[in-house]
Amino acid sequence: MKNYIQLKSLNTFSIDVCAKHVVTVHNECALLKFWKKADNKGQPVLILGDGSNILFLENYIGTILLNRIKGIFITENKMTWRIHVGAGEKWHELVTYTINKNIPGLENLAYIPGYVGAAPIQNIGAYGVELSQICEYVDVIDLYNEKKIRFFHAECNFQYRDSIFRNCLKKYAIVSVGLKLNKKWKPVLDYHELIHLNKNRVTPRQVFNFINIIRRKKLPDPMSVGNAGSFFKNPVVDINIARCLFQIYPNMPYYSQKDGKIKLLAGWLIERCHLKGCVFGEAAIYSKQSLVLINRRKIATGTEIAALALFIYNQVADKFNVYLQPEVRLIGNYGEISPKKLFI
Ligand code: FAD
Ligand code: EPU
Repeated sequence: MKNYIQLKSLNTFSIDVCAKHVVTVHNECALLKFWKKADNKGQPVLILGDGSNILFLENYIGTILLNRIKGIFITENKMTWRIHVGAGEKWHELVTYTINKNIPGLENLAYIPGYVGAAPIQNIGAYGVELSQICEYVDVIDLYNEKKIRFFHAECNFQYRDSIFRNCLKKYAIVSVGLKLNKKWKPVLDYHELIHLNKNRVTPRQVFNFINIIRRKKLPDPMSVGNAGSFFKNPVVDINIARCLFQIYPNMPYYSQKDGKIKLLAGWLIERCHLKGCVFGEAAIYSKQSLVLINRRKIATGTEIAALALFIYNQVADKFNVYLQPEVRLIGNYGEISPKKLFI
């Protein structure tokens, strides 16, 4: 479209769409200024980090604000390190920075793409650790009344791939995040692929390096293959539903949750539908991880990827009576589209 800005390099799915305006902001004043400018004209605004958890379905008729508010400030006392981080710092660079400074605690979350500002939104998690375990507060700007608000941990309502922010992104811009790391470091090695490491001898850097090896084996690098990590969340079901499934599929893997519910593995469900590695035009299911949808040659459209997601959703529902929910956020002409519109 004439005078529109290309977004292909601003989303890890590498979907070739455009937006009316793209503005990079480096401080809170600029963020608010450009948000108001667009809002006054009645234009929609989307705040983006790395675009690693979104799928553009079509061109965006509004302003994209790239949040690049920087800054890492560390304070410490006898027991803890406290890190106040700008939303526009890259998450993995923060993890590397802390490891290099001999501040452990973030190593299991290494190599997750994206910026710090997006991390609380879906409570990023990997290999036995979630952001919620180390997040002390999240600072946001309430865009409508121009006030800065601090949400302390208890107010963030963190859950698996969820938080209070997930459904409030039209109202709040996340500008910084506060982390609290315990100086008494204990490695978290419960995840099945880390269990063989010696908890008495392993160092934070060894865990960090090992996470890199595991991730490279299963997750495609967005530089070469378009993707947004897991497309769906792992479904959490009631124990009675899980029991019925275990009778039919005794080898079905699962994790018991604290509230008595059962988390099933979406990758396993998709693989059991014989879909792993399947290619559907330019969209495909990754051959090493069926929860990851890929834009094979970076020429698929967002609707092709979404059509594949809908096909998977229906196959899993028909076979297991389990309804997958996307983790990736769907973006249309005017902003986010409710997954309910696609996955009925
Ligand atoms: P974006 O995709 O840019 O934005 C996501 C949403 O947040 C959008 O709705 C956007 O509008 C909103 N948003 C972003 N920043 C702000 C802000 N400052 N204020 C208000 N709203 C904002 N996730 C995991 O949890 N664990 C993993 O192990 C993991 N592995 C991945 C591996 C790969 C290869 C890829 C591609 C993705 C993976 N992800 C994983 C998903 C993704 O990296 C995370 O969700 C990440 O936090 C998204 O960050 P982002 O900056 O790219 O967010
Ligand atoms: N599985 C299969 N086939 C597959 C994929 C997985 O059978 O093709 C089963 C296996 O039993 C395997 C288990 O699922 O052992 C778990 O697989 P994996 O360790 O790859 O993790 P996941 O549950 O598929 C989740 C997160 C990832 C995160 C990893 C590691 C979600 C939706 N995804 O994937 O996060 O990196 O655990 O903790 O919770 C993301 O959110 O984008 C993401 C990549």
